[in-house]
Amino acid sequence: MKGTLFLISTAIAYTAVSAKLVTIPFTAVERTGISASAVGNKKLGGLVDVPLKNIDLAYLIDVEIGSPPQPFTLLLDTGSSSTWVPIHGCGRYCGYPINSLIPANSSTFKTDNMLFSIRYGEGFSRGYYAKDTMTVNGVSVPQVNFAVSDYNDGELTIDGADGILGIGPDKLSVYNNPDSKVIPTLVTTMYEQGIIDHNVFSVYFQPVSQNVNGVREQKRVNGEIVFGGVEDRHITSNVSYVPTTKKADFEDYWAVDIQSISVGDYTREYERGISAMVDTGSTLVFLPRDIINHVFRGVKGLRRDFTGQYVVPCKSENLPDIVLTMHNNTFTISPEHYVITAGALSYSAESCYTYLQESPPFVDAILGYGFLQQYVSVYDNEHRRIGFADRA
Ligand SMILES: *[C@@H]1O[C@H](CO)[C@@H](O)[C@H](O)[C@H]1NC(C)=O
Ligand SMILES: *[C@@H]1O[C@H](CO)[C@@H](O)[C@H](O)[C@H]1NC(C)=O
Ligand SMILES: *[C@@H]1O[C@H](CO)[C@@H](O)[C@H](O)[C@H]1NC(C)=O
Repeated sequence: MKGTLFLISTAIAYTAVSAKLVTIPFTAVERTGISASAVGNKKLGGLVDVPLKNIDLAYLIDVEIGSPPQPFTLLLDTGSSSTWVPIHGCGRYCGYPINSLIPANSSTFKTDNMLFSIRYGEGFSRGYYAKDTMTVNGVSVPQVNFAVSDYNDGELTIDGADGILGIGPDKLSVYNNPDSKVIPTLVTTMYEQGIIDHNVFSVYFQPVSQNVNGVREQKRVNGEIVFGGVEDRHITSNVSYVPTTKKADFEDYWAVDIQSISVGDYTREYERGISAMVDTGSTLVFLPRDIINHVFRGVKGLRRDFTGQYVVPCKSENLPDIVLTMHNNTFTISPEHYVITAGALSYSAESCYTYLQESPPFVDAILGYGFLQQYVSVYDNEHRRIGFADRA
């Protein structure tokens, strides 16, 4: 889901099964000076690796559209299900993107001119639907649905993205066209064409690495997205699955129900469960206010910056683990992971931001990067479930 404070985005237990996968490593870069150069292609016995870039608050993926291919850098968004790129000549109506599509230059471009319109937490994009070949790290996927945008708020170009790659559940796309049609995402199209064996993808993050001698690394590979399933080398446990929520407001999203949350010896049980969006496009972990209060209770030197972000002494000793129970599985967010000691979001040597924040009004919880860096997350369109496994 794009928008909201720090919510910038945009974004199979068959570990023994050798499935066809398309894997894309991503690189973290600073928010300024983004390089769009692709990491080399990799092809390993049925697995295909494609690069993705992390600009600390968002993840960028390089794709190509058309025949011959025209390059784009897109924000990866699990919180929306429509992909769009700006049209050539759009200029200020699209924020002067680096790359734009020239439909006439693609021999495989097709459109029925169906209107496209999407509104994000912040921002919007409009245009018309089309289909063309999309190439992800050397793998060509014919007939991928996307929209050609001739008007959007252009904020994306600040992040180095030309457009958005939406890989939420297909159903979420009904809100983006006048006929309420379900428009399959790239993932579903890859599956339908037999390019991947399962309509599934997984996301593997490595935690933001330590600054080297106080100098931030300009760019680093720190994760991968795998289309088709999970890479064994990414995980050290079986995948625990949680069904996606049945709650009406969130059933079309990648969202699950949380049964209870414990913070130290405080436990809150949610009889009917609370909904949590699982959002690679969110940097922070948003939890109910009482939970956040209990986490920071008694932390000496706690304060909030002008945006409301919590700042704690980096070496706080009494910060608790946060334990989430979902579908009878427990998942722990430890201080080691929620206190941000490195990367573009580091505050100072003594004071640290955290990945924790109170939930916004529209949802009970959001499991963003601060959670997802600890677990490999698996998005299973076939069984409407999200899996989590310990990260290698
Ligand atoms: C697009 O096609 C036109 C006309 O053939 C050509 O002049 C132009 O160089 C092409 N642009 C790109 C970016 O390939
Ligand atoms: C995964 O599950 C299998 C079958 O239930 C079990 O034998 C195996 O020990 C588990 N592996 C791990 C790493 O927990
Ligand atoms: C969770 O465990 C309880 C107690 O063992 C059981 O009654 C319930 O059915 C379980 N729920 C799920 C979703 O497995």
